[in-house]
Formats: sequence, structure tokens, C-alpha cells
Amino acid sequence: MPSKEDPIIIVGAGVFGLTLARELCQRGYIRVSVLDRHPPPVPDGSSVDLSRIIRSDYADAQYMKMADEAVAGWKSEYSRYYHESGILIISDEGGHSYLEKAKEQVQSQGGKINIFDNASRIRDAHCEFTSGTLRNCEGYLNPRGGWADSAGAVRHLASQCSALGASFVTGIRGSVDSFVLDGTRVVGVNVKEGPPLLAEHVVLATGAWTSRLIDITSNAVSTAQPVGFTQLTADEADMLRRMPIALDLASGFFVFPPTPSSNILKCARHGYGYETRISMTTPTGEQQQVSAPRLDGDGTRALFLPEDAEVSLREGLRRFFSSSISERPFVKKHLCWYTDTPKGDFIVDHYPHLQNLFLATGGSGHAFKFLPILGTYTCDVFEGLAPQSLSQKWACRADDTDVLMHGDGSRGGPPRRHLQDWEQLEFLGIS
Ligand SMILES: Cc1cc2nc3c(=O)[nH]c(=O)nc-3n(C[C@H](O)[C@H](O)[C@H](O)COP(=O)(O)OP(=O)(O)OC[C@H]3O[C@@H](n4cnc5c(N)ncnc54)[C@H](O)[C@@H]3O)c2cc1C
Ligand SMILES: *[C@@H]1O[C@H](CO)[C@@H](O)[C@H](O)[C@H]1NC(C)=O
Repeated sequence: MPSKEDPIIIVGAGVFGLTLARELCQRGYIRVSVLDRHPPPVPDGSSVDLSRIIRSDYADAQYMKMADEAVAGWKSEYSRYYHESGILIISDEGGHSYLEKAKEQVQSQGGKINIFDNASRIRDAHCEFTSGTLRNCEGYLNPRGGWADSAGAVRHLASQCSALGASFVTGIRGSVDSFVLDGTRVVGVNVKEGPPLLAEHVVLATGAWTSRLIDITSNAVSTAQPVGFTQLTADEADMLRRMPIALDLASGFFVFPPTPSSNILKCARHGYGYETRISMTTPTGEQQQVSAPRLDGDGTRALFLPEDAEVSLREGLRRFFSSSISERPFVKKHLCWYTDTPKGDFIVDHYPHLQNLFLATGGSGHAFKFLPILGTYTCDVFEGLAPQSLSQKWACRADDTDVLMHGDGSRGGPPRRHLQDWEQLEFLGIS
């Protein structure tokens, strides 16, 4: 069990880093520092943006239980940031194993859902979708669930961390280049400018960037996922105001209700994503090619989508909306990073190859929703208090051979591919 006086450095001010920082402070740790390239909400981080789905529909019992607790937190402490629009989950006719399992899990917990046998039933229940081309599908609506203003919630969480005594170091002093090592023990971090920062424990909550600092290739791969934003008129937005979130497991496409004041319709794909090729040197001096985001820059994202990604977002939009909406150019579009693991399980564990280095990452495209309660679970693992079943589920394995990183069965759409050199140049500014 770490001592409450130990200096702890958490690298990364996303949902993993901030929730752990808050929990550590609440448990009486008095020297918690959070480092990041930018102050949270970090503009090009994965925990930002307009919205994230808050669903408790899971095929897996552990995440389902956590999601239920998280929804309770969204409805109380974080209610200012939460919109309970309900969530419609569909797939092609003939059954989808993730959808069936999630449906069973929700029902076995006493959740009330509306089941739709076909597309016309969905349109009957949700007039917002009558102008779309939806057909040959089935699914259900879970009224318990919705979306969160993610940047707003992260801003609030960061201010709670500050109020509880956590220090923040951002900018060049908060940008970590490498570790200070004493043999194979991590005793601090080297930052871009100035002397290193020393600590008894270093936590990497670096999301998709983790592969730039350590060899994580047998546990996770960073994948970029497409997002598009359409500006609606006030009248169009009013027509869609009461729509649920729609998630099509067959294609991975999902779309949120319009944002309340700005009337932005946001859509994305929960798929296998795109990889980049970046050269890095591991702490032991080996050269590796990994998929990772850019480290430098001012945090603005390139307005870039691969052409096939844009095509599939448009196909998704057409299934639900009229052509006047589905064909309208995006006002903003970009790729957003997932940190994918073999089965979609998080990585919350000591790094097996270096001492005093703890990992809290591996969000696999579904970690945000747990914001209200995630820290309780990750801090239990950090302190060695978590049940073995959980610490094993979230273990950083030294020798995992399943490198497919296909997630938990909830993904749809085409297989993962590497970006071509010119695509990577447009996306990262480097090829
Ligand atoms: C398009 C998209 C849609 C999603 N939809 C949902 C959803 O609907 N529901 C849901 O629950 N989840 C969703 N997710 C997943 C969820 O957002 C992520 O799992 C979660 O935000 C990951 O948090 P993180 O803390 O691991 O990463 P991040 O928020 O990216 O935090 C990592 C931080 O580390 C910092 N960092 C990295 N390296 C360094 C370094 N060397 N020095 C200093 N700082 C560093 C970065 O600047 C960054 O701020 C979605 C993700 C994306 C991309
Ligand atoms: C859709 O399903 C309902 C049963 O839920 C059925 O009555 C109806 O005929 C079906 N419609 C089509 C077009 O298949």
C-alpha cells in the first residue's frame, strides 16, 4: 500500500488521470500532481468534444454494473452535464450477438426497454427518423441513458481535483519525454523544458499517446476514429430535439441529438479505426513503429477524414435523416483517438517491465461514461484493494499474443487499416 505522503505524478489529464487524481486526494494522498501537454479539457485529447454516449447497455456484467453506478452519478452530481435522451441500439435483421446479450443484461436487471422487430416499428416510434432510408434492421430503445457534455464534465472534474489539493503542471513543463530511471525503477519524468520532476510513483494515463512512452504493443493499439459535425437550422434542430441517440452496431455509426443551443448534429463511427506509423524508442532503447497521435502542436486537430470514413458517415446519416441533412457538408470533421485492447478491457495495472510505473488507460472507446465512478475502481487497483477478478480483467499482460485488439464485440464497419503516407501527412503533419 503506497504511503499517503508519497509524491505521485499522474501523466495525462483525461478521464483516467483526473478521476484517479480526484480519488487519491479524497483518500488522503497529499502530493498528487497531474501533468499534461495542455490544461484540461485538453483540446486534442480523447475526453473532450461536445458529447459522449452514456449507456448502461453492456454485454459484460462488470461494465454493466459500473455503468449503472455511473448513470446514477450522471443523474446526481453531474446532472448539469447529462442529457437523458435515451439510446436506440439497432443492427441488421437476424440478430447480433452483442445486441442480444446487452438486451438480456438490461432486462435481467429489471430495465424497461422497447423492442422493435423491424424498421417500420422504429419509424413508428421515432418520427425523427421517418425521412431516412432505414430498413432491414431490428433493435431496442433503452430510455435510461443519453449523452454527456464531455468537455464541460472534464472541466468540472479538473476543478474538483484542484480544490482537493492536486497540482497541475501543463505546457512544456508538463510534457513528458521519457522516464528518470534508477535501474529498472521509475523515479520521475523528464519533461520538455527544465529539470526532471521526481516522484515515488508515476502513473501513465496517457491514452492513445501511451505507445510513445513504453512498449505496449502486446496490450493496446491506438486507433483513430472518424467524427463529423453538421450545422442544423433552428427549425431542423427543433424537429430532432427529442430523438434518442442512435447506434447502429452493424456499421458502427452513431448520432447524437442536436446540441441544445448551438444545434450541431454530431455523428461518429464506433469501428476498428485507422492506424498511423510513428517511430519511437522504448525505455530499454529498442526502436519501434507504433500507431500514435502527434505530441507537439497547439492542440488543434486537423480537419481531416479519410475519404472512406466520410463516405460511411454519410451512409449512416442517410439511414436516419433526409438528404438535406445527410448531404450537407460538415462544418467540422476530424479523427479522434481510441486506445484499443484485445477485448475492450481497460489496462489498470503496474507495468510489468519497470517498477513504480502504474498504467490507467486502454479506454477502448467506452471509458468516458464511467467518469463519476472510474476513480474508485482504478484507485482500488492502485492501492491493491480491488478484487482479483477485476485486477485480472484489467491486467497489463507481459506476453499477450492476441494482438487483434478487436474490442468487446460492439464494433462495426470495415477492418482497421493503416493510413497511407499522404493521409497521415494531412492528419498529423508528419509522414
Ligand atoms: C470519437 C470518440 C467517441 C467516443 N465515444 C464514447 C462514448 O460515446 N462513450 C464513452 O464512454 N466513451 C467514448 N469514447 C471513449 C472515451 O472518450 C475514452 O475512452 C476516454 O476519453 C479515454 O480517456 P484517457 O484519459 O485514456 O485519454 P485522454 O483523454 O486522451 O487523456 C490522455 C492525456 O494524456 C496526455 N498526454 C499523453 N502523453 C503525454 C505526455 N507525454 N506528456 C504529457 N501529457 C501527455 C494527453 O495530452 C491527454 O490529455 C469515445 C472516444 C472517441 C475518440
Ligand atoms: C414489423 O413487425 C411487426 C411486429 O412487431 C409486424 O406486425 C409488422 O407486420 C412488421 N412489418 C413489416 C414491414 O415487416
